[in-house]
Amino acid sequence: DWTMAEFRDAKIAEIRKQVGKGRVICGLSGGVDSAVAAVLIHEAIGDQLTCVFVDHGLLRAGEADQVVGLFRGSYNIPLVHVRAEALFMQGLAGVTDPEAKRKFIGKTFIDVFEEEAKKIGGAEFLAQGTLYPDVIESVSFTGGPSVTIKSHHNVGGLPERMNMKLVEPLRELFKDEVRALGKELGLPEAFVGRHPFPGPGLAIRIPGEVSKERCDILRKADSIYLEEIRNAGLYDAIWQAFAVLLPVRTVGVMGDGRTYDSVLALRAVTSTDGMTAEVFPFPGDFLPRVATRIVNEVRGVNRVVYDYTSKPPGTIEWE
Ligand code: XMP
Repeated sequence: DWTMAEFRDAKIAEIRKQVGKGRVICGLSGGVDSAVAAVLIHEAIGDQLTCVFVDHGLLRAGEADQVVGLFRGSYNIPLVHVRAEALFMQGLAGVTDPEAKRKFIGKTFIDVFEEEAKKIGGAEFLAQGTLYPDVIESVSFTGGPSVTIKSHHNVGGLPERMNMKLVEPLRELFKDEVRALGKELGLPEAFVGRHPFPGPGLAIRIPGEVSKERCDILRKADSIYLEEIRNAGLYDAIWQAFAVLLPVRTVGVMGDGRTYDSVLALRAVTSTDGMTAEVFPFPGDFLPRVATRIVNEVRGVNRVVYDYTSKPPGTIEWE
């Protein structure tokens, strides 16, 4: 039985051995996993590491500032902040298939990383915060034939022509272990306790075509939902809560007028590792309050529904 401190020390030794005097570039997604990987690798090899935070325009409200602030402010980790919203939005135009979205985003991430690697004079290694469940779920369906459910962009979605070698120090860990490791490394509690967020971001929470306009609508609705969850003291009891903007419009009435706007779905689940999940049972008055706020405050949404599907048979994300 090992402790997190022992695990950290063993991984640091392993990373030093793998990387030698090489340069490593680490993609920060805004989530906990890549942040923990980056801090661990920085402890191992210091300035041989450069972090690249790709803002693909598919992040939640305020997320870019939080991550950049944490890395530049609290840690002295070199960080390149790439603003690539236009690149991603152009490429996503007209794409509606979930796997096509994931593949495009994964490939474009790598394009951006490779370009940044060139700018710093070359990097032989690409670091990622891949976890054990990412590895399993990208490879096969538990207990069944080998079928890819989703190409997690930091595993199955990588293009084959990639020139860099992978450094993935969290590959054996589950989420709760990553959080414990993050605490061991001194990351703030509030950061480590954040809900998981997928690499492809809001793109896979907008079934159908993704656009900046739809991302903006979703960001607004999502932040109201999360604000209410925090105010109710429920954030830490939930594994993951988020909104999904549907490509379906329905009729409503606002004041004296008819509306014809999008449906928004809310999801909240409990889980220990993301492999299975149960629907979170909100207290009775909570969801109606959130629905009212969203319809009143977010233009473009006139109906809110709640997703009661557990995993399996549903997945946590909708795409
Ligand atoms: P699903 O939707 O497969 O999600 O039940 C299980 C957990 O994984 C997260 N997820 C991802 N994380 N890159 C990631 O880093 C991805 O491409 C990705 N897809 C899903 C999801 O948010 C949930 O926590």
